[in-house]
Amino acid sequence: MSIKKFNPPTKYPHFIHGGDYNPDQWKDMPQILEDDMRLMAEANCNTMSLGIFSWSELEPEEGKYDFSFMDKMMDMLAENGKKVILATPSGARPAWMSHAHPEVLRVREDGGRNKHGQRHNHCLTSKYYREKVRAINTELAKRYKDHPALLMWHISNEFGGFCYCEECQSAFRGWLKNKYATLENLNKAWWTAFWSHTYTAWEQIEAPSDIGENCTDGLTLDWKRFTTYQTGDFIDNEAAPLREYTPDIPITINMMEPIFTLDYRELKKHVDVISWDNYPEWHMGDDVYTAAMTGFNHDIFRCLKQKPFMLMESAPSLVNWKSYNKLKKPGVNKLSSLQAVAHGSDSVQYFQWRKGRGCSEKHHGAVVSHVGTSDTREFREVAELGGMLKQLDEILGTVTESEVAVFYDWDNYWALDNASGYHKEDKKFLETVVKHYAAFWRRGINVDVVGASDDLSKYKIVVAPMLYMVKEDQAKNMEQFVKNGGTVVATYMLGTVEENSLCWLGGMPGGDLRKVFGVLTEEIDTLMPEEKNRVKLGCGREYEAIDYCEIIHAESAETMGEFEYDFYKGSPALTKNKYGKGEAYYIAFRDNGEFVNDFYEKLANDKGIKRNIESELPHGVTAQSRTDGENEYIFIQNYTPETVTVNVGAGVIIPENEEINGELVLDGYGIKILKR
Ligand code: GLA
Ligand code: ZN
Repeated sequence: MSIKKFNPPTKYPHFIHGGDYNPDQWKDMPQILEDDMRLMAEANCNTMSLGIFSWSELEPEEGKYDFSFMDKMMDMLAENGKKVILATPSGARPAWMSHAHPEVLRVREDGGRNKHGQRHNHCLTSKYYREKVRAINTELAKRYKDHPALLMWHISNEFGGFCYCEECQSAFRGWLKNKYATLENLNKAWWTAFWSHTYTAWEQIEAPSDIGENCTDGLTLDWKRFTTYQTGDFIDNEAAPLREYTPDIPITINMMEPIFTLDYRELKKHVDVISWDNYPEWHMGDDVYTAAMTGFNHDIFRCLKQKPFMLMESAPSLVNWKSYNKLKKPGVNKLSSLQAVAHGSDSVQYFQWRKGRGCSEKHHGAVVSHVGTSDTREFREVAELGGMLKQLDEILGTVTESEVAVFYDWDNYWALDNASGYHKEDKKFLETVVKHYAAFWRRGINVDVVGASDDLSKYKIVVAPMLYMVKEDQAKNMEQFVKNGGTVVATYMLGTVEENSLCWLGGMPGGDLRKVFGVLTEEIDTLMPEEKNRVKLGCGREYEAIDYCEIIHAESAETMGEFEYDFYKGSPALTKNKYGKGEAYYIAFRDNGEFVNDFYEKLANDKGIKRNIESELPHGVTAQSRTDGENEYIFIQNYTPETVTVNVGAGVIIPENEEINGELVLDGYGIKILKR
């Protein structure tokens, strides 16, 4: 077999280990900066993200740049053998700018303009802001292009949210003109004859808002798509000088949990490397569920470019912004960090290197606490992990191979979330997707998370939970996949609307999926929280149905399970249709997790899906793999506090280099890497 490896995300040939460094806060305390250099070495950190919120430091007055402190820090880090992920400073503005040019501040949905303060809330369109960003980025790129520490560009910080100012609204109208060409097309696509909402001039169109138009689903959807577009355009403007002066330095943006306001499958096109900030809720409920959800998130980010990504931020222990800010228990930093590596990260980075003294993040975890020494649990755990990562170079760039894919599309999520119907407030989309995902995850099966038009040909099973919106090309994609022998599993709500959130006519699931699944859906019942139905399968097994029961007709499909109660007793709840060389399953109800678990266990067995560990994994234990084509690296993870024993077969535990053949003992919250 040939070696399959990607180049690492940057030119650095080792795992990047480090974090957000904000030395601006310690400028007057040179001893602290000296200590930092020593402590970074002790913590086995090799890379720092610098300058994320440094605009006031770099441009203290309009047009007057001062790079002296940045020079000093870049040099100091380089002299100490460290690399720098250098940020552009647009994540927060200096006060002088908001004061003199209030148009840089975001306008809220109600039309009011924000005051100066906080961060991240700049207008995405403001010509002035874009010019200022471009100017300072040009200075940074010219100044540091040959600096030995410069490893990567980190554009701004955590893009997200909307601006409703006139400049943004006018750009939105321009985007719509470009998309629809005529108002007639737009009115049709948005179904504006409803409630007399027809537009007769482009100027009449305003962004959706709770004090204005909020029931035209097509408008709401397009506003979100536009905001993604405008954010991409903003990123391009930031990136232009960086690409010009440093064409070999990769560019990233730090993304957030995928449920937020931007379609990352679009934004990925504007960056070279995918990185994201991961803050799971450890010890705040069910750690096993949290782990599955986190694995799912990592898989989304890996699959954006189908190659290793970077864990740009994580908390070495607690954060400061959740309702309950729990510490990570001993071992959990290692487990959580290596979980990212298991799913394809080539870095482990923290927010933050050192705890600040003041303001809102002074209680946020950090590698260096207010004690200022290496003699803390948080520090020791970071240092230990850094020591381990140094010995894992061989894993860098290795690939993740999956035979199963789960659909996750932002458009679908937005459309569903915005749909007035079903359970109006909480349709539990993400939870449902994760429930389906987790059925594979807990068996140690690699899963990809893909979008509507991604290539499906390499998968054996594709899962489409709550795929309410099906675009024409996605329907074709799914049809082709099944025709060629693939197995697809979809649930209630499949193919209800097309790309503009208009309902498909002629029978759902629309877009020709009716023939692929061999079912016609007629009605959907939203159950009260205390209401339950039951589903009985042909094999005799019974499961509870909650939240949604769909009344469907099996046309060409075979009925494999039926509802047991209510007037739709006896109507199909689970069907299977043979189509082309493949099979399409339809699950017409939501279950409490038991059904999907059993269903996918059987399906994975029937389809011969590879499990990373062949023996039965105890509850809360999973295994994820990366490969270079010759060696496989299996990350065996225990998300329970109990010591467990797993029969892992033969291999070597790395980096300890212990041969094993059979039983592996994992401590509570333990993780081991098996090479075979
Ligand atoms: C985000 C930000 C960081 C910091 C952390 C705190 O991820 O990017 O600047 O505020 O949250 O957890
Ligand atoms: Zn704006």
